[in-house]
Amino acid sequence: MEIIVNGGNRLEGVVEVNSSKNAILPILAATLLSNGHIEINKVPKIRDVKIISDLINDLGVEVKHEQNKLVYNVSDIKNYPSYELVRQMRASFLVMGPILAKKGKVKISLPGGCAIGTRPIDLHLKGFHALGAKIDLSHGDVTAEASNLIGSHIYLDFPSVGATENIMMAAALAKGSTYIENAALEPEVVDLANFINAMGGKISGAGTNVVKIDGVNELKPVNYTPIPDRIEAGTYMIAAAATGGNVLINNVIPEHMKAITAKLVESGAIVEEESNAIRVARTESIKPIYIKTLPYPGFPTDMQAQFMAYLSCALGSSVITESVFENRFMHLQELLRMGAEIKAEGRTAIIKGVKKLTGANVKATDLRAGAALVVAGLTAEGETIVGNSIHVDRGYENFVEKLNKLGADIIKK
Ligand code: EPU
Repeated sequence: MEIIVNGGNRLEGVVEVNSSKNAILPILAATLLSNGHIEINKVPKIRDVKIISDLINDLGVEVKHEQNKLVYNVSDIKNYPSYELVRQMRASFLVMGPILAKKGKVKISLPGGCAIGTRPIDLHLKGFHALGAKIDLSHGDVTAEASNLIGSHIYLDFPSVGATENIMMAAALAKGSTYIENAALEPEVVDLANFINAMGGKISGAGTNVVKIDGVNELKPVNYTPIPDRIEAGTYMIAAAATGGNVLINNVIPEHMKAITAKLVESGAIVEEESNAIRVARTESIKPIYIKTLPYPGFPTDMQAQFMAYLSCALGSSVITESVFENRFMHLQELLRMGAEIKAEGRTAIIKGVKKLTGANVKATDLRAGAALVVAGLTAEGETIVGNSIHVDRGYENFVEKLNKLGADIIKK
């Protein structure tokens, strides 16, 4: 699959953002903690949601995707996750905490590394161990077992999003109180806590670096709408700024966008916040800036690639340091094919702005790299063919259609 862009069109108009992929994935995993009929609203039809739904269905749960609502009928968890499904997406590992809490035992294939780094799961396992689970690693599988999980104090060496979420889910049904220290502060972590609390859980402090989870005996089914996707919103903000356009992005929580907004304004774009929308325009040339990716509320690593594409045409040299993932510059080589002038040393890239990018054949290596190459293609002279565009479908619903509506000359083949 490929996306073909003919660059040069300014983007103008209104675009609507979906619910957050990275909020929905743990929320869908957390449905396993309850029993009964759960409805999750405004769920985009994207590949990662399909993979986790298939996986949950494979565990013996009835799953229906009705228009943009996901309906789950949770009863017993009959199976363990199959390797076939787990290997398709790292976030599959998020079902480990809920299955362990509900069934007392879980066996799952270890997620391998992926394009953006080795991404170990030691912090998740450290958390389960602290809650009293016996952990066994053998032949590429991990088994965790505990007849009862017991509340505990867990200090995370790094504020990992996935570890905070997985431990929070396991602790939701544990006996007593669990404290996660140096927890991740991401809005998606807060949304998961809100979802578990809506089911009757007792979580406080989500969004601060100490999360307290008081275990409860059972969680009840609910109807829930996850938060908007701040990375989808950020991608349209960049596309608007990169093309010198003027776009209103709807269904946004501006508070979640602070780091992205600050960097766009620093680069000379105009950003206007409304209560649940953001308008981005740019009339001046792009000023070079410095970016370092950090856990929330720092600058999100999931926007690093898109900013690199944008800054490729800045008036001067920008610097980007990737501090969250060890290997998240694969888009750099592809941007070079389009005439960008970028040099990387370790985790730092220096982007010397050029006047214009030129269309080329490039390949998406992961989701955000794919989005970045499309942004680059929107500004480039001539035709850009983004191969492997299936990566983009993991996280953006109707990406090509939405950009088309904003005036881009773009198709999917
Ligand atoms: N890490 C460890 N040990 C662990 C867990 C993480 O060393 O046990 C390291 C990772 O290797 C990485 C860093 O900690 O270097 C951050 O990983 P984190 O656990 O915070 O990330 P994640 O939960 O695997 C989520 C998002 C990612 C996003 C990161 C950082 C989901 C499903 N995924 O991943 O989203 O980049 O947080 O914000 O929520 C994307 O959407 O494109 C994407 C990759």
